[in-house]
Amino acid sequence: MHTSHSTYQMKISELGYLLHIYYGSRIDDEDLSGLLTHYDRGFSPNPNVAGRDRTVSLDVMPQEFSSAGVGDFRVSSIEAENGDLSRAFEGKYTGHWIYEGKYSLPDLPGLRVRENDRTDTLEAELKDPVSGLTVTLCYCVFENLDVITRTVRVRNGGTEPVRLTRIMSVTMDWLESDFDFIHFDGRHTMEREFHRDPLISGQQTIGSIRGTSSHQHNPFVILCGKDAGEEHGECYGFSFVYSGNFQCTVEKDQFDQTRLVMGIHPDRFSWKLEPGESFFAPEVILAYTDRGLTKLSHMYHDIFRTNISSNIYRNKKRPVLLNSWEAAYFDFRHETLVDMARHGAELGADLFVLDDGWFGDRNNDFCALGDWKENPEKLPRGLKGLAEDINELGLDFGVWVEPEMVSENSRLYREHPDWTLQIPGRPAARGRYQLVLDLSREEVQNYIVDFMDEMLSSANIAYVKWDMNRSISEVWSGGGNQGAVFHRYVLGLYRVLERIENAHPEVLFEGCSGGGGRFDPGMLYYHPQIWCSDNTDAINRLKIQYGTSFGYPVCTMGAHVSVCPNHQTKRAVPLGTRGIVAMSGTFGYELDPGKLTAREKEECRALTETYRTYSSLIDQGDYYRLESPYSGKGFTAWAFVSRDRREALVNVVITDKEPNGAQRYLKLRGLREDLRYHVERYDICRSGAALMRAGLPVDLGLGEYEGMQFAVTAVR
Ligand code: GLA
Repeated sequence: MHTSHSTYQMKISELGYLLHIYYGSRIDDEDLSGLLTHYDRGFSPNPNVAGRDRTVSLDVMPQEFSSAGVGDFRVSSIEAENGDLSRAFEGKYTGHWIYEGKYSLPDLPGLRVRENDRTDTLEAELKDPVSGLTVTLCYCVFENLDVITRTVRVRNGGTEPVRLTRIMSVTMDWLESDFDFIHFDGRHTMEREFHRDPLISGQQTIGSIRGTSSHQHNPFVILCGKDAGEEHGECYGFSFVYSGNFQCTVEKDQFDQTRLVMGIHPDRFSWKLEPGESFFAPEVILAYTDRGLTKLSHMYHDIFRTNISSNIYRNKKRPVLLNSWEAAYFDFRHETLVDMARHGAELGADLFVLDDGWFGDRNNDFCALGDWKENPEKLPRGLKGLAEDINELGLDFGVWVEPEMVSENSRLYREHPDWTLQIPGRPAARGRYQLVLDLSREEVQNYIVDFMDEMLSSANIAYVKWDMNRSISEVWSGGGNQGAVFHRYVLGLYRVLERIENAHPEVLFEGCSGGGGRFDPGMLYYHPQIWCSDNTDAINRLKIQYGTSFGYPVCTMGAHVSVCPNHQTKRAVPLGTRGIVAMSGTFGYELDPGKLTAREKEECRALTETYRTYSSLIDQGDYYRLESPYSGKGFTAWAFVSRDRREALVNVVITDKEPNGAQRYLKLRGLREDLRYHVERYDICRSGAALMRAGLPVDLGLGEYEGMQFAVTAVR
């Protein structure tokens, strides 16, 4: 398989195993199978069909999909309990097909094929000769986008039911292990921090069993050469298009080979396949480059800008929004909101978003989730009347919901206590005082679609913030197979989102899960932007947005200017810096603009202006990480560079200040060496080569948390 810059090669061995040979820089029409060597390796068993040949072992050979229980002792691609209760699967090649276009993946999101994409699919079938269990490996080559998507289909071709307890969507073997493992981990209010670890002997695993992809680990990882940096080196990206439990394991084996697997987390997963039934694993998007981490990020930015969401806002400028959450929390009335929006209009906002607290008795977070009817005291004219008054001011209107949840103190719970995930006889853990609705059930899915439909039809609502505020525990649903519930929940959620989107294609959806607890391509398929973190502190956001930028473009990252001292950290950061950081996402405000001083208002107006001036460059330009927030140099910097490389917007924030400190230099990237550029703020003209190689001195006069933003424009 060839993408524009990569080649992927596999081979059917003489004994019928599908061996992996190569994934890397493009090599045209070469048989690379000579890379595979065969030696007698002690304590690595030989398949029965190998007869007396002790040089063939599944424990050693690189494979496209590992067998299980038949002599490969590395981390496995599959675990299945056969009808006879044995747990063996031996994948023997039985056929393959190549066709134009992309494989179908029913009920699951995946990379979309756009009009001008050149796509071909390879399906390779592996069958266990005894149980009849059949695994079809599906590869879709997006040649022009330079990526390959993969998935796995399992079919019970035998006569007995099979229980699938582990199925990895991707298995990737390398013949070497000189890699670093980059992953993005954190916690609520501090998501996706960058971690880069050398491979160790044995296994390294990240994942989630919280029902969502989670704040703790993101389903995007990179394996890169030890010498790889932003500008150079080999990098492999793996992005899992799934919003529930996941696992990614990297193993360095006894011969310094590497295997990476990624898929649904096997803990508490068990899927029963009756004879003839199939299971579709979610998709993984693979990207490879030998040109460093920036290039790898750009590849994911490009595909997630164009090929994941179908929402009309995909290609449209996102509205500058004003969100009521940090401005008012639960404490507001119709008039106060309209007032807020009026001041918001003065800041230049396009959209006013009413966050939590507008429904039922929702005056705190103890109650009312599920009662999606306006609180008549707060909103006597309902969402409709409020939307009308906001629209009068020239702003669109948006609203917050948390449809997957229910408070025990709500009408919905009193009427349908059985609609929640709870184990009979075992009092359920609460998260933020709330329980989780069982989205695996059709009546619950219908209830959500119906109330959303009713709400969206009742008022002029242009935007919805879809929140999800707890990890899922006590997973149990009716009778039947409990090991399927986590996955059925995610499928139920996707079904609901699909139906709502289809019925209301004009609405912009922003995903949220206590900030970025479900920040993954599965959600981006439905929600073109996601609230990046509940932490709006601009200095912490530098790390959060830096980590997020490796796998996701800035147009997916919700980011707002909030007040100081910041509500999460109590830190005071200059307004200009808060603006610079928020405009490296989907820009907006999360404060009461009526409480700003005249000067602050003026400054915010100017920030909105600046954002509008540069929004195309920010959304469509290439994103460059210039100085990492972890570099220890006391500043962080990044830039947006236009596709023709004639224009850039450079951003710098001082994160740690010492008096009389070292002079630091900022080296730009992405410019053309041969062009001359005017550098705003410094008011100098320099060649691209000078700006990128020699750099610019970072102003020592800037104080802690101060920032600077300046344009760099080609003069000829
Ligand atoms: C979550 C979200 C916040 C806000 C609150 C409302 O924490 O991440 O942005 O919407 O819920 O309760």
